[in-house]
Amino acid sequence: MSRIRNEALRRKVMSADEAAALISPGDNVGMSGFTGAGYPKAVPVALANRIKAAHQRGEEFRIGVWTGASTAPELDGALADADGIELRLPYQSDPVSRAKINAGTMEYIDVHLSHVAQMTWEGFLGRLNVALIEVTGITENGDLIPSASVGNNKTWIDQADKVILEVNAWQRMEMFGMHDIYYGTALPPHRKPLPIVSPDDRIGVPVFHCPPEKIIAIVETDSPDRNSAFKPLDEDSKAIAGHFIDFLAAEATAGRLPHDYLPLQSGVGNIANAVLAGLGESGKTGLTAYTEVLQDGMLDLLEKGTLRMASATAFSLSPAGVDRFNDDIDFFSKRIILRPQEISNHPEAIRRLGVIASNGMIEADIYGNVNSTHIMGSRIQNGIGGSGDFARNAYLSTFVTPSTAKGGALSCIVPMVSHVDHTEHDVQVVITEQGLADLRGCAPRKRAERIIRHCAHPDYKDQLLDYVGRADDGAWGRHTPHLLGEAFDFHLRFMQTGTMKA
Ligand code: COA
Repeated sequence: MSRIRNEALRRKVMSADEAAALISPGDNVGMSGFTGAGYPKAVPVALANRIKAAHQRGEEFRIGVWTGASTAPELDGALADADGIELRLPYQSDPVSRAKINAGTMEYIDVHLSHVAQMTWEGFLGRLNVALIEVTGITENGDLIPSASVGNNKTWIDQADKVILEVNAWQRMEMFGMHDIYYGTALPPHRKPLPIVSPDDRIGVPVFHCPPEKIIAIVETDSPDRNSAFKPLDEDSKAIAGHFIDFLAAEATAGRLPHDYLPLQSGVGNIANAVLAGLGESGKTGLTAYTEVLQDGMLDLLEKGTLRMASATAFSLSPAGVDRFNDDIDFFSKRIILRPQEISNHPEAIRRLGVIASNGMIEADIYGNVNSTHIMGSRIQNGIGGSGDFARNAYLSTFVTPSTAKGGALSCIVPMVSHVDHTEHDVQVVITEQGLADLRGCAPRKRAERIIRHCAHPDYKDQLLDYVGRADDGAWGRHTPHLLGEAFDFHLRFMQTGTMKA
């Protein structure tokens, strides 16, 4: 039976090449996709081919690509490789795009993920010409059944002049009912309180509404989501997870957390996934998650009963994780809610629920400022994603990293971060495999002492202590002592050793 149950819409089915021909040079295209889940799989590739052909004829053809977050090679990779992206937002992790952004040939706006919908409504990003959205199916009355990510799809569908749909038969219809699309958001002064008081509250509808006359093309696909596998758990990840779990237990003992904790948020990346795996060993049951992405670790926790439910905006599963989800979809879909990213990352909900946030980082400095995005201050790695949405508003905000990178050649604890994403005011706890520094209630010099003592690698401890000692004696001010002339010596040394060659 066709996934397009609305007869009038069935007449709009066409090939990916025909649909791609409806996108014009200079268009801004709001695409679905959040990590390797729920992104359109056919039209971007067809569009990339069209762009390449145009370039061969000497014609200009570049577009603005707006998504939920990162996507996959068939979207970001194909369009970047065709030199087809003028401007990208709000998050990416694609190697081809990264190289172009860092070479200065692709513009990139790295935004808090909860802000994107509002910015689009405000209009300063420009007109959204086309929404290109993967859906699982279309109901008899023309509503759209969301796919494996929600991201900004509601906003794109509402705001775009025209809508192109990919209906992907590979996505399981059993997901119908799992999504919660909230239609109550508005710009100030018309905003109402967000009625989420528990992570399992449903406040919307399971479908996107879209005026049928806006839909100009529908392409049928049957292609899997594509995410990378996670790295196997190493000793560092296990140690980081151990520190995090001991800390939560101690907070509960101290009466600052209830025995079933508070809703958990876990960031992207291997370490974040490892922290979740560690939580599964804690013996806890009945916890909840109010988070952005669901990685494999969350499936483990749901299966074990550590988590009773999880709210997010997207899956971010390895291929093995996707198989597990699909094999046991009835179990998982009852325990998972996928929401628009402006709701999964909403400051009001995060603050009200008292979320315990855990995010990865590139480096932290001795005073607790965190860099999540830039290598050596000027090259973007991925983007801030939702880490700022959670860190600023969480009840407990933790950041995790191994204490060194590049096989020990670099310290991830430095005198001054080379780029600031999360200021010392938003960072409560720093965790490396060496230990955990609880910065709450500490003035700057105390923070430096704790971070170096608990988190720095032994190979770098003396150099960091030497720096703070001399800064304490020689800085212009003693509140946050720095020797500005040498605050970046750590980074410069790494660059000079050749470790950081492009
Ligand atoms: N200096 C220089 N390079 C560093 C570094 C440092 N201090 N720390 C890490 N790196 C490099 C690594 O060597 C690696 O480079 P490679 O790809 O060339 O091998 C790269 O940065 C990624 O590091 P890795 O350890 O593989 O990262 P991860 O999978 O644990 O992810 C972040 C870490 C920070 C990149 C990731 O968490 C992120 O993008 N965070 C921002 C967005 C976010 O937090 N979203 C969640 C919100 S819900």
